Amino acid sequence: MIKLNPDLKVNFLRIGDEEQPLLIIDDLVSNPDELVEIAANSNWMQPENTYYPGINAQLPNSYSKVIIDGLRDQIARAFNIPKTQKLLVNGFWGLTTFPLDKFDSWQKIPHYDRAEIDHLAMVHYMNKEIKGGTGFFRHIPTGYESISPNRVQEYRDYVTHWIDEKGASQLVDFAGEQTPDFELFYSVPFKYNRIAIYPSYVLHCALYSGLDIDENPRTGRLTANNFIIPTL
Ligand SMILES: [Fe+2]
Repeated sequence: MIKLNPDLKVNFLRIGDEEQPLLIIDDLVSNPDELVEIAANSNWMQPENTYYPGINAQLPNSYSKVIIDGLRDQIARAFNIPKTQKLLVNGFWGLTTFPLDKFDSWQKIPHYDRAEIDHLAMVHYMNKEIKGGTGFFRHIPTGYESISPNRVQEYRDYVTHWIDEKGASQLVDFAGEQTPDFELFYSVPFKYNRIAIYPSYVLHCALYSGLDIDENPRTGRLTANNFIIPTL
């Protein structure tokens, strides 16, 4: 059973020129090692129709309930959501396992998960050794740090054209500090049992080095990933 830690540490930030909200909570659950064991005993497989660069497994049903119920007040305050708002949560265990040659151009640049401005993304870091967490980026040509519905067309057209013209040959590494056309302006370090929550439409990516390729949930780049969607 997953237990929220009564002594968890909450840190709320606003990042970048757009001052997007970012909630970072350390020591989230009181039994993280048990959670890793649950992950290690899960059924892992290659997801279909996603950009996720690795393998996924189903999170225990209790995960989202315990976390979302327990963090409801913090989430409501940080993201300006009514406390009584019904929240739909869906998520998965993730292990990033792709080597660079399996990444296409769009996977070598920062991404937004969904353009909807009220959706949230949540990542729970579950490895004690790994360093690269989550990076937040500005797309230099447009200045955008988030891609809301009114920006989607312009942004996608711009990047598609750029990849065709020169990006494909310039993108020679995982997305990060060195990615051309993007500026990394903030990063959350990977830390065991830390969770980061941010709007799904911000430009971000896992700061991932090829050194983390490991399909073992106990030693690889294990995260619990969830989307939080306000619903009726
Ligand atoms: Fe993402």
